Amino acid sequence: MSEGMSEQLGQSIQGGVEQPSARRHVPLIERYRERLPFAPGDPVVSLQEGSTPVVPAPVLSELVGARVRLKLEGANPTGSFKDRGMTCAVSAAVREGAKAVVCASTGNTAASAAAYAARAGITCAVIVPEGKIAQGKLAQTLIHGARVISLAGNFDQALELVRQLTDTHPIVLVNSVNEFRVEGQKTAAFELHEALEGELDALCIPVGNAGNITAYWRGFSELGVKPRLFGFQAEGAAPLVTGQIVERPETVASAIRIGRPVRWEDAMAAARDSRGSIRAVSDSEILAAFRLLASKEGMFSEPASAAAVAGLLKYGAEGAEEIVCVLTGRGLKDPETAIAHNDGRVIPCPVEIERIEEAVLGDP
Ligand code: F0G
Repeated sequence: MSEGMSEQLGQSIQGGVEQPSARRHVPLIERYRERLPFAPGDPVVSLQEGSTPVVPAPVLSELVGARVRLKLEGANPTGSFKDRGMTCAVSAAVREGAKAVVCASTGNTAASAAAYAARAGITCAVIVPEGKIAQGKLAQTLIHGARVISLAGNFDQALELVRQLTDTHPIVLVNSVNEFRVEGQKTAAFELHEALEGELDALCIPVGNAGNITAYWRGFSELGVKPRLFGFQAEGAAPLVTGQIVERPETVASAIRIGRPVRWEDAMAAARDSRGSIRAVSDSEILAAFRLLASKEGMFSEPASAAAVAGLLKYGAEGAEEIVCVLTGRGLKDPETAIAHNDGRVIPCPVEIERIEEAVLGDP
């Protein structure tokens, strides 16, 4: 490519896409060190997480009559928001001299823990609910070299067991009961505050184990701002909506298939103190939002992330003018669900130009 051409291309790319902040290539702990429990000189295990884009969502904005933007947490190194907390949890573990970390997970925490442990040169074990984690997450966790234990039980049972395990063995628990996880994840609130220059009325966010809504509220509170936090759970896994533990949670959004959130009280306080709420959306509403995000906004998120958008579409903007939906994880994490639930089809075709013409140009 000639120099002139590459220059032009550079310019047109710059013109079309929101430029990442100049701090894009700074590890999250360094970017926010003064607000995090890490001193200069402490070990930092980073994959250059955070500083994720905030992208306008014109179709959603039109549908709800407010300015809606999407915080793309799937742009984190392992494809989900978990990396914010994991850089802190694993860095702290290394600082303490830990040689191993463990977590229970519906998949994303596992993938993130596995990646950061690999980077740190320590071992990682994850306990996942048998048959209930998306393929992309399983692939990541395995390739990073973690020990994957498939529990004949659900996430809540897995978490109970790893808590017992870490009570009696020198292994660091990196679920969001670990304070460093929440500390790291609160930085997403800082980034939003900076990106929107304080103009944020409401945040829509999926809720599972309730660590993330807790972290956002902590971040906003530290800044002294109060956007309303609208949390959304899947109908079949909505303990915070019904006020009852769900013994057998079920939802297509496997990431938030959780019946006994560990940050229960914190999440309820976040919703209450922000004048927000935690409400439920059905699987069909989640899948409709999942398809809409991909087919109208060009955003392929995982189903759990789409729950935030489903909630916004279902309950409306409620007077908020500036809204952000957190897209917590990337669609590639869960290819099976995307293949099973879309409006398209794959058209088989022999090697013949007439048939190609028909397939490409004919009636769908
Ligand atoms: N979105 C995605 C993509 C998630 O993976 C999770 C949680 C949530 C939302 C909910 O966040 O638990 O902080 O309320 N995933 C955990 C895991 C449980 O093991 O990966 P939360």
